Amino acid sequence: MSVTSFPKTEIKILLLENVHPVATEAFAAEGFQVETVKGALPEAELIAKIADAHVLGIRSKTRVTPAILDGGRRLMSVGAFCIGTNQIATQHANNRGVPVFNAPFSNTRSVAELILAEVVMLSRHLGDRTREVHEGVWKKVAVGSHEVRGKTLGIIGYGHIGSQIGVLAEGFGMRVVFYDILAKLPMGNNRSMSKLEDVLSVSDFVTLHVPETPQTRNMIGPEEIAKMRAGACLLNASRGTVVVIDALADGIRRGHVGGAAVDVYPDEPESNSSGFASPLRGLPNVILTPHIGGSTEEAQEAIGREVSASLIKYINTGATTGAVNFPQIELPLDATAHRILNVHKNVPGVLRDITKIVSDSNANVRAQVLSTDPDIGYLLMDLDQDVSGDVKKAVGALSTSIKTRILF
Ligand code: NAI
Repeated sequence: MSVTSFPKTEIKILLLENVHPVATEAFAAEGFQVETVKGALPEAELIAKIADAHVLGIRSKTRVTPAILDGGRRLMSVGAFCIGTNQIATQHANNRGVPVFNAPFSNTRSVAELILAEVVMLSRHLGDRTREVHEGVWKKVAVGSHEVRGKTLGIIGYGHIGSQIGVLAEGFGMRVVFYDILAKLPMGNNRSMSKLEDVLSVSDFVTLHVPETPQTRNMIGPEEIAKMRAGACLLNASRGTVVVIDALADGIRRGHVGGAAVDVYPDEPESNSSGFASPLRGLPNVILTPHIGGSTEEAQEAIGREVSASLIKYINTGATTGAVNFPQIELPLDATAHRILNVHKNVPGVLRDITKIVSDSNANVRAQVLSTDPDIGYLLMDLDQDVSGDVKKAVGALSTSIKTRILF
């Protein structure tokens, strides 16, 4: 029996929460059917809607619960058109053979640019000056205002954002030092330091770009603030839990910390209409922003482009590179082969069973990639002969199989 892959025109993409139009265009160009919904949908409505969707695209407000995933009988994949994936039951999706893709680096540049701007703002007390002028107060002073040229920027966490900042800061003529728990290649003349304390003690500005982990929780507390140079400024656009806010507020009140730019907080309001309380409010030379580090139109567009590209690649080739909850594999395209995708429970003997099915149908495996995680195995297999229909049926019938699909 010869079976062709699922026709592209029958693939249904359901996009919620105003995903950027660039994604809709990319899916439409592939010939997929796209349905867009402006806002998020509550569970019951989404369960009804997802029944015939092959791909679900959401942003941060839709909670993708196990019940929703169970309702998606045809669901191939979920796209999180944002950075975080906490709103999705990713492990349940894994167990159902549904990879989840996001766009972790699409707003890197936006955060880096904000930090550079804030370094200059802090150095010139711009937050205070602009507020005064708005209030009708004219306070022309040079004392305490500095150029950033020749000053030292200390970067804690030299990943995508940290290293990008290191490059941009040198353009301003700053000296750049950094600390990371991993060995990182220094960009330009950036200099690696082996201890956090060393960075704190030499920097005029300390900027934090670490992830939220048990080790980074309260990473900057009273002791670390005491180790900063007198008058140095602290910037945090990473995660709210990294800094002990009371310690920072105290450092500023005492004048030991010269200023701060804070974009993330331990408790952030749920919505734009909620109020905001923080011990940092009203303190001098403190720039407070509502978690907008990565919020630019360019980043939104990049997210739309990157996530739709990952989803299209997964649908067309089975590649799971970048998936947050899935074994990551990719097999180069071979137009003359016949490709089958199989997700199975990670138990002994599965590969043996699949290999037997293939050899019983007299097919030859041209290429094969398998990767596993504790729960599932993910296999991509290119066969020489067009027996993929028979093989798919037999593999799909194995009690260990979760999902089986013919790609081409
Ligand atoms: P990344 O994963 O590329 O880099 C993080 C770096 O921190 C890595 O090099 C890692 O080795 C290092 N690191 C981890 N634990 C450490 C520790 N204990 N001490 C020192 N270094 C440590 O992450 P990326 O993309 O650069 O993002 C950094 C942070 O920025 C994340 O927390 C992310 O959530 C946040 N972020 C905030 C945004 C905003 O709107 N304010 C937007 C985008 C990201």
